[in-house]
Amino acid sequence: MLRALELAMRGEGRVEPNPMVGCVIARGGSIVAEGQHGRFGGAHAEVEALARFDGSPADAALYVTLEPCCHHGKTPPCTDAIGRSGIGRVFVAHPDPYPEVAGRGVAKLRAMGVEVIEGVCREEAAELLAPYRTRIEKGRPWILVKVAMSWDGKIATRSGDSRWISGESSRAVAHALRGRVDAVLVGIGTAERDDPLLTARPPGPRVATRVILDSQGRLPLDSRLVRSARETPVLVAVSESADPRAVDRLGDAGCEVWAGPADRAARLDRLLGELARRGMTNVLVEGGGHVIGSLRDADRIDEVHLFLAPRWIGGSLAVSPVAGRGPDSLADAAWIDRLALEVLDDDLYVRGRVRRERPSPQPTA
Ligand SMILES: NC(=O)c1ccc[n+]([C@@H]2O[C@H](COP(=O)([O-])OP(=O)(O)OC[C@H]3O[C@@H](n4cnc5c(N)ncnc54)[C@H](OP(=O)(O)O)[C@@H]3O)[C@@H](O)[C@H]2O)c1
Repeated sequence: MLRALELAMRGEGRVEPNPMVGCVIARGGSIVAEGQHGRFGGAHAEVEALARFDGSPADAALYVTLEPCCHHGKTPPCTDAIGRSGIGRVFVAHPDPYPEVAGRGVAKLRAMGVEVIEGVCREEAAELLAPYRTRIEKGRPWILVKVAMSWDGKIATRSGDSRWISGESSRAVAHALRGRVDAVLVGIGTAERDDPLLTARPPGPRVATRVILDSQGRLPLDSRLVRSARETPVLVAVSESADPRAVDRLGDAGCEVWAGPADRAARLDRLLGELARRGMTNVLVEGGGHVIGSLRDADRIDEVHLFLAPRWIGGSLAVSPVAGRGPDSLADAAWIDRLALEVLDDDLYVRGRVRRERPSPQPTA
């Protein structure tokens, strides 16, 4: 199952809004066929593995990271393919929360006389499937936050200068992140100050929509974002009370303008729901401090990617990565779990997942 989970990861950035799934067929303690869901609309992992399996089904077992589907989606049901193969034992790591499956896949296999063992490596599979589950179960995308900051925790100087805090290798990793997510989101403060393009360079497996939180629709028409909006989508999220002329100007320049409630927090929540409704699974938030603070206050941050550069900025007016209100007590501060640490030239690249409860101690990877 661990090998199947490894195979599943190959679909990252390629299969969404579908889940990443891997599958292995084993006989007598050896793996005899493998497969993964490789791209959206492509064959499912079980079908891929079965296509590569030409031995006798007797004594073979199939290991799959997600409950096999039992409905006609873009491809026919995997339960039928497993049934036809004659394989009599199936190990499943995690149930599929997708309402059309949700236990029916396993029930259908059992009804066909297949022995099903559930919950093998369930925790690992739950981690792998977290973005997919968040979209389906919470109706919002998985939120990744990326921050490049100095050793003293600043993302810009007091005058707003932030280019470049981190080194070239860190920026390459950040571009790779952009290239696998559905949207890259920033606040109008960052868009105005930095005039970023927010595209992945070089391109990754998918093209992210660039989303700007901009209540009044004041994103400059001569910004790099607006000037490139006809090639790479830009969505400007404005307040319903924004000046219609500003909205029209952005629309005429090729941006999509989405309007939500005047209250910022309510608008942000509504926007995340809208992005999920469009099938967006992963959204990368690149700042600035106010936007990240709003997301933190609303408990909407799931994963943090921190590039810690060996710079020492200082200044109480220099920009911090997370503004907003913050908790009164440390007991209410979130934890970071599943830490991974890499050295990228002079920078430290630290990433982890946000937890509401204190995680059990674990070694760093
Ligand atoms: N080192 C890094 O990794 C990094 C990354 C990004 C930015 N930066 C730096 O950070 C600075 C900009 O950060 P910032 O905090 O001033 O600006 P910001 O967070 O990018 O934008 C804040 C603005 O976004 C709008 N907004 C709309 N909805 C919001 C919501 N729900 N929550 C919060 N804001 C919302 C508000 O303006 P309206 O009310 O007008 O909509 C608000 O003033 C720049 O100096 C930039 O260089 C550094």
